[in-house]
Amino acid sequence: MARVKDFVDTQDFTKEELLDIMHLGLLIKENIKQGYPLNVLYHKSLGMIFEQSSTRTRVSFETAMTQLGGHAQYLAPGQIQLGAHESLSDTARVLSRLVDILMARVQKHESVFELAKYADIPVINGMSDYNHPTQEMGDITTMFEHLPAGKRLEDCKVVFVGDATQVCASLMMIVTKLGGHFVQFGPKGFQLREEHIKIAEENCKKSGGSFLITEDEDEALKDADFIYTDVWYGLYEAELSEEERMKIFYPKYQVDMDMIKKASPTVKFMHCLPATRNEEVTDEVIDSEYSIVIDQAENRLTAMRALLVYFMDKRDETVAICNKNLGR
Ligand code: CP
Repeated sequence: MARVKDFVDTQDFTKEELLDIMHLGLLIKENIKQGYPLNVLYHKSLGMIFEQSSTRTRVSFETAMTQLGGHAQYLAPGQIQLGAHESLSDTARVLSRLVDILMARVQKHESVFELAKYADIPVINGMSDYNHPTQEMGDITTMFEHLPAGKRLEDCKVVFVGDATQVCASLMMIVTKLGGHFVQFGPKGFQLREEHIKIAEENCKKSGGSFLITEDEDEALKDADFIYTDVWYGLYEAELSEEERMKIFYPKYQVDMDMIKKASPTVKFMHCLPATRNEEVTDEVIDSEYSIVIDQAENRLTAMRALLVYFMDKRDETVAICNKNLGR
């Protein structure tokens, strides 16, 4: 089977491919931490289209290109012609001649498909209203680094608390694809939709993983290895007011120490960030020894380096260079 050209959805990849990209990221991370240069993307240029603001995605892609010997260009609304003056298809065709790889954070998921359709170069989805696949490549890397003793990724129970955001959807997809056990603990009306459930069921059938949506806190948190949450408002164009959404999620779905104590004693707390402290998570939890949120943010860089190398067809060369540098 031909290799997938774009990274729009983790669903397009096999478990083995996703794990291969994760291990590539860890190998490059070690190489860079040991101080060995890695210029495999020398003179390559990344175009970064952002229709929404970003800290982690923007900075990690830009740093990744610099560390790999290339260059990144930040292409924000109002700075390029995309929108009123130029279509997505023309933008994709033009940028295909000007840069070597594209990433896009878009308002609507269709936009990333449109870019991928018309671009001759690889397109990486930097988050849409449907999913956030680069976040999840970083997150499985962080889980792998913090696995409970004696467990593999596929043995872990991962509980997402709160609204079925695009991060929740992507987390479900990758955990069930890898054969892990995914739970969404969230209120009716804010749970993963039928289309997600179909994906989860298909993944679990192939991988041996499991999937549950529940409003029962004890059932959700029992033996949880990872508890993950995301913000409660501000993600969608047409949504209830902040006040109305707060009433739905607070206090039942706030991750606090009581929730942490219901999980496995080795549980880790995760959040894609930015966090609204003392809303979806208390200061006490996010600043505690259970929290691995800053490792998660660092591993956005780990994942971006791997994705750039992989989609620029530099995987084998990079593995050979890193292994030589590290004496393997
Ligand atoms: N988690 C995440 O995607 O962060 P940014 O919105 O800052 O990129």
